[in-house]
Formats: sequence, structure tokens, C-alpha cells
Amino acid sequence: MTQKALSTTCSARRTQAGDSFGDRATMAPPSVRAQWDQAAPGWDAHGPQIRAWLARATEAMLGMAGIGPGSRVLDVAAGAGDQTLAIAERVGPTGQVLATDLSPAILALARDNTARAGYVNVQTLLADGEDLGVEPAGFDAAVCRLGLMLFPDPLRGLREMHRALRPGGGACTVVFSQPEHNPCITLLLSTALKHAGLPPRDPSAPGGLLSLGRPGRIDELFVAAGFEEVATTRIDAPFQLPSAGAYLEFVRSSASPIQQILGGLDDAAAGAAWAEMEERLSVFTTSTGWSGPNELLLTAGRRAGAAASTTRR
Ligand SMILES: C[S@@+](CC[C@H](N)C(=O)[O-])C[C@H]1O[C@@H](n2cnc3c(N)ncnc32)[C@H](O)[C@@H]1O
Repeated sequence: MTQKALSTTCSARRTQAGDSFGDRATMAPPSVRAQWDQAAPGWDAHGPQIRAWLARATEAMLGMAGIGPGSRVLDVAAGAGDQTLAIAERVGPTGQVLATDLSPAILALARDNTARAGYVNVQTLLADGEDLGVEPAGFDAAVCRLGLMLFPDPLRGLREMHRALRPGGGACTVVFSQPEHNPCITLLLSTALKHAGLPPRDPSAPGGLLSLGRPGRIDELFVAAGFEEVATTRIDAPFQLPSAGAYLEFVRSSASPIQQILGGLDDAAAGAAWAEMEERLSVFTTSTGWSGPNELLLTAGRRAGAAASTTRR
């Protein structure tokens, strides 16, 4: 598909980041969008650390989605565009990337980052992942890195990705696996909830960081969304930083779900929560720094139809 054709595909809703959603409903509550707007500068500022943390998973995701030179790629919940840069590089000048996100502030950063890197093959679209509004069958591949688990209705999000793919097109999502393999997140959530005076939450409740981690859950959703050849791979992704304090600094400025829990506390109460988190996170200190264990699930599926192809003809 040419640049002109991609523009046409999205002409009804293609925006400069910062525009409104027009008359389309958003599925996620407005508070979620506002929190990600607030977390946007922090997420962007930690781009180099996030890139290193997710480098292996990102390469695998691009491969599992079948992305290659010339691919037209839909990047859902793109954030500040770190994986968008990797996709734009891989598809090359004959390919196209449409980076979408719920948050105008973070999508503006994706647009700026990809433009600064010189990629003219990236467009942005302000869109809830559950209601993308893109033309059906317009993409060769669709990805969503660390976004789908935050959707109130992830099946709806997967159906949107499926609908956007041409027959034979591939999708790949990255989410956190179950709580016991992601002890830092488990610890952050339980400490934040305790300090906020809230009861423990069911980790599998929709919209939570660990909501899609139960073995088999995301595969079921891919199948229910209509995907074929569904397969999940686990990847260890330890977050390696100089200290527990550096990780906490990342969480404090970028991790919207934790900020949402602590949002109602005064400074002193929130400070006590952050202090306890840092103390508990220090168990992951190593002789060379700090290494927080994480495990990710990479799930791939294909829309039925013509054989998968990574290049445009
Ligand atoms: C953890 S960040 C990941 C960003 C990026 N994919 C990355 O890996 O760097 C989660 C992103 O999901 C977006 N998001 C959350 N809920 C969303 C929804 N319902 N629709 C679209 N984007 C959503 C947030 O705005 C945020 O940019």
C-alpha cells in the first residue's frame, strides 16, 4: 500500500496527536487517558532503559507478527513510540507504520520521536484500542507491546486488530505473565493497595497489569477474536538498572497503574508507600546493580486467508 493509500485508510480519523476523538466513544475510562497523559513525559524520558529492557521481546514480537521490508503495520497502544521506531526501521522506506494510542500526550511524543529519527513512513492516530476505526483489512501485521492487558475488554481489542489485518496477516502482542513470575509488579501493586487502604485485587481482573498472565488465557482470547495458528512464547525480561531506587524512579514517573492507586493519597502517605516499595525492591539487588525479574508472554496469531507474506508486492 502506498503512502496515499494508508492516508486514505485512516482519513476519517487520522489526527495530529492532541486532537479529540471526534464522535467516537472511548472504551477506557477518561481517568485512564488522563493518567497516561500525565505519565507520558516519564515514559518517554525512560526510553533508553525501556528499550534495553524490552529489546529481545521487541525483536521477537516483530518476527512473530511477520513484519519485514514493505510491511504495512498497525502499532496499537504505541506509547512514546519505542517499538514504532524498531518497526519503522524494519519495514524500510517501502513500508508504513500507523502508531495508535489512547493518550494524546504520549502519542505526540511518538510522533516527535519518529520524526526526529527521520522516519517519514510513520503516521499517528489517536484511538482507543477497542475502537480503532481503521478500514478493515488494511494492514499486513499488527502489534501491541505492553498495552493489551490494560484494556477493559481485551477481546474487543484483539477483534479490532484482527479486523484491521488483510487475510493472511499476522498479529503479535506482548503482556506480562502470571504474578509469581513478575514479583516486582506484584510487590508494587500490593504495597500501593495497602497504603491506599484498598483491598487486594484479583490479578486477573480486566485492565490490570497482570490481567492476561494466567496460562492459556491470552491464547483463548486470540482464538475467540478469530485468529488461527495461535501460539504463545515466554520470554524472561529482567529489568536491569543500577539500583532499586532507579527502578522506583522509573515507576514513580512512568507507571500509570501504580500512580492511579496512589492518586488519592497526600504527599506524606504516598511517600510512605514509595519508601516501603523501595525497601522491598532491594531484595533484587545484585553484586553488579539491580535486576528485577519479569516474564513476558508473546502471543502470535494469523488472520485466515492468503499465505503470510512479509513483503508488499
Ligand atoms: C505500558 S505503556 C506501553 C507503551 C508502548 N507500547 C511501549 O511498550 O513502550 C501502555 C500504553 O497503552 C496505552 N493504552 C492504555 N489503554 C489503552 C486503550 N484502551 N487504548 C489504546 N491505548 C491504551 C497507554 O496510553 C500507554 O501508552
